[in-house]
Amino acid sequence: MQPADLADRVVRWQQTHGRRHLPWQGTRDPYRVWLSEIMLQQTQVVTVLDYYPRFLAQFPDVRALAAASQEQVLALWSGLGYYSRARNLHRCAQVVVAEHGGVFPANSAQLAQLPGIGRSTAGAIAAFCHGERAPILDANVRRVLTRVLGFAADLSQAANERALWALAQELLPRSDLAHTMALYTQGLMDLGATVCLARNPDCARCPLAEPCIARRQGRQSEYPVRSRR
Ligand code: ADE
Repeated sequence: MQPADLADRVVRWQQTHGRRHLPWQGTRDPYRVWLSEIMLQQTQVVTVLDYYPRFLAQFPDVRALAAASQEQVLALWSGLGYYSRARNLHRCAQVVVAEHGGVFPANSAQLAQLPGIGRSTAGAIAAFCHGERAPILDANVRRVLTRVLGFAADLSQAANERALWALAQELLPRSDLAHTMALYTQGLMDLGATVCLARNPDCARCPLAEPCIARRQGRQSEYPVRSRR
């Protein structure tokens, strides 16, 4: 399978079967996209749909969030769990205001320097807001890509993790014509969340079933390989 073929399949599937019309998909405002990605890191979409608009009503932009007290931020976060996310969110807003003039950096490398923004979240923000050809590799996407590629190397080893990031980079769409990068990034997330499930993947509905090496092997449940956490 050619990289362009995989990207085409993911993009076409996103447009017909992916999740659309989520409130954070209608914007390229980095503040709104960043907030959604942090909330979605460990929380289901249905729950975020409840919290996200309330948070934005209280803190409509990064300056409002930076100026809030930690108590105010934690109060709005209450019930979402993983409170270090909320503390990092607040610190990140303060850094964006103090060091970047209230404007989020426009590329993934700089985004990844900010508190609470790992490489995958930085890639997602840059792809959604700026069409940057930046890969994502969260737990869901790791599962999708290791299965499709039959990537059986142990991700506990840093060199293998790096190799998977490099493959994720190579598989990206060649250009961002017609917002392809956003569609592709969302498509991979949607596949991992709705089709390429950890248990009982629904290969009959998967646009990557044909080229998927794990499916051909009948070994979907064995990917990704990680000997320790
Ligand atoms: N999980 C992480 N990012 C997401 C997004 N943009 N849409 C839906 N689920 C997600």
